[in-house]
Amino acid sequence: MIKDLVWKALPFKVQNQLDALAEAAQVFREMKHPGVLRSLGPAGVRGLLLHEGKQGRPTLAPARHSAFFDWSYPQDQPEMRDLYRRAKLGQWDGERDLDWRRSVDPLNPEVPLLPAGFIDFGALEGHGARLDAKERVKLNYSVCTWMLSQFLHGEQGALYAAAQVTEAVQFFDGKLYGSTQVMDEGRHVEVFSRYLNDKMGRLYQVNDNLFVIIDALMTDGRWDMKFLGMQIMVEGLALGAFGTLYRVTREPLLRDLLRRVIMDEARHVHYGVIALREHVRTELSEAERREREDWAFEVALLMRNRFMAYEVFDEWFSGRISRAAWRDVVQRSPGMREFRQVMFSRLMPNLREIGLLTPRIIPAYERVGLAEYMFGKSARELTGEQMLADLDRGAAASSGWAGESFAVS
Ligand SMILES: [Fe+2]
Ligand SMILES: [Fe+2]
Repeated sequence: MIKDLVWKALPFKVQNQLDALAEAAQVFREMKHPGVLRSLGPAGVRGLLLHEGKQGRPTLAPARHSAFFDWSYPQDQPEMRDLYRRAKLGQWDGERDLDWRRSVDPLNPEVPLLPAGFIDFGALEGHGARLDAKERVKLNYSVCTWMLSQFLHGEQGALYAAAQVTEAVQFFDGKLYGSTQVMDEGRHVEVFSRYLNDKMGRLYQVNDNLFVIIDALMTDGRWDMKFLGMQIMVEGLALGAFGTLYRVTREPLLRDLLRRVIMDEARHVHYGVIALREHVRTELSEAERREREDWAFEVALLMRNRFMAYEVFDEWFSGRISRAAWRDVVQRSPGMREFRQVMFSRLMPNLREIGLLTPRIIPAYERVGLAEYMFGKSARELTGEQMLADLDRGAAASSGWAGESFAVS
């Protein structure tokens, strides 16, 4: 009671600094497996406490994996060989194949980047931050630019992870396939960076939680952890996020860009599932598999709870409302809810397919409400074309929040 009164008497700025520290401490408390703490702990210190990604200088992440050479050049994995063929045929040019001449006005309410109802403005007002119609459009622009900036930072991580994994993986067909993914990720960095620079006119700093995941992957010497983190978790997150944005945005250049990126990403996740499925089932000991199960669960929690767009909050509301109030707004917002739902409906079936959803760990997912997503189609059963068709059907049938709220108030 007294604690509550003292807390309320503090200015929002102080409250918010303490809240950020408490949240970082909670992340460390959640890491119960010693192997998971060793893997994610140092990255957590660099990202959550030292904010290394936000210092305005380049970051050096020491990589410690072994490059795996095979001088016999075997054709050792037909499904990867097939993905390699499809990837060569699916290459596109970020300069030639997107119409960069289209002018984009991010504040034009006739062609909204996000539907007006993406953020729950009613909930925001309930916490004491009332925005007029113009400010609402501007906040949506900030949220969209924040999302695209995090996509771009994730793509930079994906580019280096794809290069590392190509060196480290033992499947020769995987190495050939990996060379196409390096190209894909380079192109994704190119197009997101150009869109943000030329059309949005700004770039947000990397989110601390995303920094932690990327830093942990770069510095972990085990190739399968890089795979699990990047190909399954971060790419799963990316597919969910790209899919949500593709479904709701009305900006034509952004839709084209996302459609092409989604086609590439579907292959990347497919590759991750094939490589890890075999590895988890045939190579890992019981103890090693358990560590991966726990690691995946912690990263899933990190992603579910913590992508709260605090960089947008700091810019707009840090002296006006509390971080807790902002979390409440983000959690209630239909767009962010859909984002989480699509993300986990992509991710969980892949964890199942790989063999990392065992009876031991399922109750943990049940406790946090994520087990319900495990029965969908995995990346092996779903092509990029099918994914896009599902998203298009969702857009056409949408009489819910997205459809209605396009009538911009
Ligand atoms: Fe990518
Ligand atoms: Fe990717």
